[in-house]
Order: sequence, then structure tokens, then C-alpha cells
Amino acid sequence: MVFGATGYTGRLVTAELVAAGHRPVVAGRDRARVDALRARHDDLPGALADAADPDSVRRLVEPGDVLVATVGPFSRFGRPAVDAAIAAGAHYLDSSGEADFLRQVYEDAGPRAERAGVVLLPASGFDCVPGNLAGALALRDAGEEARRVDVAYQVVPPGGRLHRLGISSGTRATMLASAFSPVEMLRAGRLVTLPFGREVRTFRQDRSVLTGVLWAGTEARTLPRLAPRLTEAATYMVAGGRPARLARAASYPLAALSRLRVFTRLAGVAAAPALRVTGRGPDPAAQDATSTVVLATVADASGRQLATVRLEGVDPYVFTGRIMAWIAGQLASGAVTGHGALGPVEAFGVDGLEPAVAAAGLRRVGLPGVSSGSS
Ligand SMILES: NC(=O)c1ccc[n+]([C@@H]2O[C@H](COP(=O)([O-])OP(=O)(O)OC[C@H]3O[C@@H](n4cnc5c(N)ncnc54)[C@H](OP(=O)(O)O)[C@@H]3O)[C@@H](O)[C@H]2O)c1
Repeated sequence: MVFGATGYTGRLVTAELVAAGHRPVVAGRDRARVDALRARHDDLPGALADAADPDSVRRLVEPGDVLVATVGPFSRFGRPAVDAAIAAGAHYLDSSGEADFLRQVYEDAGPRAERAGVVLLPASGFDCVPGNLAGALALRDAGEEARRVDVAYQVVPPGGRLHRLGISSGTRATMLASAFSPVEMLRAGRLVTLPFGREVRTFRQDRSVLTGVLWAGTEARTLPRLAPRLTEAATYMVAGGRPARLARAASYPLAALSRLRVFTRLAGVAAAPALRVTGRGPDPAAQDATSTVVLATVADASGRQLATVRLEGVDPYVFTGRIMAWIAGQLASGAVTGHGALGPVEAFGVDGLEPAVAAAGLRRVGLPGVSSGSS
């Protein structure tokens, strides 16, 4: 069952599921769009549901189903699908990446899912599968002394030109909707929240320097479950030195403003037009010209670098469509034994996930010396 199948990401996941031999039910809120999608894939089964009507979402799922949710922004539309999956006894995965929604899934929905004996795999796209894998591989390489892991995501636009970076309609709406939500990092062994952009970290590699800003991710939650001695963990988005420093400077006044109700209301009004546009995103030519890098560095308590892992590969949306289809297939076949809200490595193990991530287009590459440090 793909809820949000008519959207940009939903269509990609649906196409990958069909290519893998599945016949998913394609669910959406608009009959004409659902029917058009069904027709494109040899008359797939379809269903109608609206996130604004939780009962309609509940009617989508039955025990043993796998619910793939791609209706975002998840902080606004995500809850009914998670609740419906748990109530029905269905497994669940989504394309979320928003800190506040992820917190709800791990802290509130996770324990309920565990009691119901189902698996929740939030953030199962480019956010945050490869960062979890790279972090887990680096932790495995680093061994017992590992105390700190930093993960950086980079999307390299066509020709390396930032203005040519293609983002989907849902990504745009979600970024606007969650611009003021604090993100999580592990600091001194505790999960803390900080405004997006508040920390800047450089990842030095050979002669190049990647500069990232603090970003929402699941790594600070999920990697310590694999390596309980970790005391520091954070996720960054590579933004270049100047934009990163600007984001950090802007995070102070924005954090203060976001505490004012009138400001968040105005921000909501400004973001509303983006919600009305759906189903748009980079075309195949733009996808072909876009690449990604995911880097994880692990250090000991003194900051000494112990291990680094670099994954390189395809456009983030192409990857998302492929990996979500793979994860849905694994859940459908009963390959995951745990219950509750899991991270991708917890669900599949490093050795299970690495080949799947490679098949979806992100491969580990050899690395000249990499180090990271705050700036
Ligand atoms: N984790 C990752 O790496 C990753 C990758 C890609 C996307 N994403 C996230 O995934 C989400 C979707 O992105 P996208 O670009 O695919 O979005 P999109 O193209 O704008 O599609 C949004 C989908 O949600 C549906 N929808 C909107 N409101 C709804 C409601 N009230 N009830 C039912 N369905 C509703 C839309 O239906 P209609 O077709 O009828 O308008 C459409 O199918 C965003 O939050 C984005 O940030 C994450």
C-alpha cells in the first residue's frame, strides 16, 4: 500500500515496486490522479484516503499489510498513517526526515508499535538510510574506542551549480514547514535539540573541505543503539563554507523569533502556497546529472579519528524510490524480526543493508585521509 502514490516520491516508489514484481495498492486523495497512476501500471489496485480524515487512512490498512507513506510534510500530514498502521497490525515505512515528526515516531508511536508487534521504519529514503549505513560501517571499522560519529550528506547538483539543484514539490513544502523546528544531536551522551544550522562542521578530505550545517537526521537516535558507548552523534548537510556560516548566524535570531506565536503563524502563511503544488520534481535528465556523497567519521574520546566511510552515488530521489521499494519488499516478506520504531541498520544489519544500498545506487568508495572538526 503506497499512501501518497500520486506524488513525486510516491510515483518513484510505485514504479520501483512494480519493477520488482509487486502489485502495490496505490492510495491518494484524488480519484482522477489515482486512476491515472493505476492505468500507467497495468491497472494496479487503487484506494482513496485523505490525511485530513484519519478514518479514511485507517480503512486503507489491514493486518499484515506494509504501509508506505509519502504524504508530507509529515509534521502536518504524517500522524494518521503511522497510527493506522499500528492499529491495523501493519508494518510501516515513510519518506520523512523532519525532526519533530521523527521524535513522535520514536518516542510515542514506537512503544505502541512494539506492543502491536509491528515495525516502523521512518526516514527510509535518502534521509536517512545511507547516513545510518555509513555511520554503522565506520563504527564497525573503529571498534571499541569509538565515542563520536559525524555524518554528512551532500547533494551535488548538475555541473556543481547550486542554482541547478532540483528539489521536489514535497521537499520544498517540507523545508518551509520545518525550517524552525529544532534538530537533534547526541551531546555528552544525551539527546539534545538545537536550532537547525546552529553547528557548523568541516570534513577535510584529501585537498577538499566539505562544510556542513547541523541538519535533521535519525543518526543521533539510531547509531547509539548500535554503539552504546557513543557520547556524540550528529547529522550535517553539506552547504559550503559561506552559506553554512550564514545559516549559523541566522539560527540565533530565527530561534528567538520562532518562539513568538505571531511569527510562526506568519511563517505558516508564507509556506501555504508551497503545499498547493504537488507531484513536481527533477526530470530524468536532471536526476542523471545529480549525484550524492554521504560521509561518516568516527573519533575516540580525545577526538582522534578512528574510521571514515564514504558512499557515493545517484540522485537522492532515485535512491529514495529504490531503497523504499526494497525495504517495503523486505517487510512484506517477513525478513525483519524486530518490533517498534527501528533504524535501518537495526532492521537489516550492516551486511544486509550495504548490498541493498549499493543496488539502490550508493556505493562505498576508497578514501584518502578524511578528518572532521568543528569550526
Ligand atoms: N527522506 C527522503 O530522502 C525524501 C525523499 C523524497 C521526499 N521526501 C519527503 O516526502 C514527502 C513527499 O515529497 P514529494 O516531493 O513526493 O511530495 P509531492 O510530490 O508534493 O506529493 C505529496 C503527496 O501527498 C499527497 N497529499 C497531500 N496532502 C494530502 C492529504 N491531505 N491527504 C492525502 N494525500 C495528500 C499528494 O496528493 P495529490 O497528488 O492528490 O496532490 C501527493 O500524492 C515530503 O515530506 C518530502 O520532504 C523525503
